Amino acid sequence: DTLLEEATDLRGKQVIVTAGPTREPLDPVRFFSNYSSGKMGYALAQEARRRGAHVTLITGPTALEAPVGVKTVAVQTAEEMYNAVNKRYQQADIVIKAAAVADYQPVDVFAHKQKKNADEWSVALERTKDILRFLGEHKKEQILVGFAAESEQLHTYAKSKLERKNLDLIVANNITTEGAGFDVDTNVVTVFTRDGQETAYPQASKKEVAKQILNELEAYMKRREA
Ligand code: CTP
Ligand code: CA
Repeated sequence: DTLLEEATDLRGKQVIVTAGPTREPLDPVRFFSNYSSGKMGYALAQEARRRGAHVTLITGPTALEAPVGVKTVAVQTAEEMYNAVNKRYQQADIVIKAAAVADYQPVDVFAHKQKKNADEWSVALERTKDILRFLGEHKKEQILVGFAAESEQLHTYAKSKLERKNLDLIVANNITTEGAGFDVDTNVVTVFTRDGQETAYPQASKKEVAKQILNELEAYMKRREA
């Protein structure tokens, strides 16, 4: 993609995008993860770059190629993602958290491959750190964009995440809607802003949805400056 010639509010801004799933290891051959493909986050990184931003993409394991012109940092676990984001947070103008971070990790990680013995196996899990919540608590001038993957009560849950995590924008999608959510090429999103706007978009390619989201972000930044 060619860079945009016209000025946009993102030109020269330091943007961090997180993408993909995280993997929480159990033993050397097993992990817990989710169906995130990384497509939404990669599309956002590419579109932010096209608008002239300096983009760092912090990504869990995906099958996608690293976008050209974007600094890509590969991580595995929620903890590694937390460290990679946190290290760059003070220099960032905008953080977009598209990653599907695991909510739980195994309490014990076995050094050796576990053999099959008993008929049943229960694994104890503990909460991972909520990266976005931490960023919200330590926010200075940064603009924070979160995602909400919901299968019910989209508005209520998305708005409560916007408040609870001290976000500027939240991009909500109903993962049970056809053509939305994990591991598909399209998405159907509703964007809620801190200043009370709510916009529902029709189904579009993730590339198109990335434009919708960054247009929302630029409009929000303009209102905030005014
Ligand atoms: N998130 C994060 N760190 C976590 C979990 C989630 O930074 N440990 C971020 C995601 O990247 C996303 C937002 O929080 O931008 C919302 O994720 P989501 O899974 O929808 O919400 P949760 O707060 O994890 O709540 P729940 O899964 O119970 O709905
Ligand atoms: Ca979650």
